[in-house]
Amino acid sequence: MTKQIGIASDHAGLELKLALAKELDKQGVIVRDFGTSTSDSCDYPDFAHAVAQAVEGREIERAILVCGTGVGMSIAANRHTAVRAVVCSEPLSAKMARQHNDANVLCIGARVVGTGTAIDIVNAFLTAAFEGGRHAVRVAKINLT
Ligand code: RB5
Repeated sequence: MTKQIGIASDHAGLELKLALAKELDKQGVIVRDFGTSTSDSCDYPDFAHAVAQAVEGREIERAILVCGTGVGMSIAANRHTAVRAVVCSEPLSAKMARQHNDANVLCIGARVVGTGTAIDIVNAFLTAAFEGGRHAVRVAKINLT
């Protein structure tokens, strides 16, 4: 399992983010929190871009982003060429996103899934490995530039 991961949320995802960070800490994973840290209304792209830049800069290998639906975070994070962000609402997609798509950012909707399911999704994402081979050929075709 990756030892240090980034995590961030907007106000809508704050509570779930803190629950996930607590769970990961229990598992011995080092979590770097990029904010937000209060329930004040804020803009999800600010946090998605901060995390995506850290992935691009190889400061972190993988990250979790939480907003209301996970959608806004994923759209913003995917503007970065080194990022393959996926929104997942169940563990199988998270596992397959690692195995087949080499996804490096997991986005979760706090208004979509409960904490227990979110933990299962995160565990699936962090324990599955990219299978390479034919999938590497396909992943290499994703970016346009
Ligand atoms: C905030 O209300 C909400 O729009 C945001 O958390 C997210 O769901 C956007 O995609």
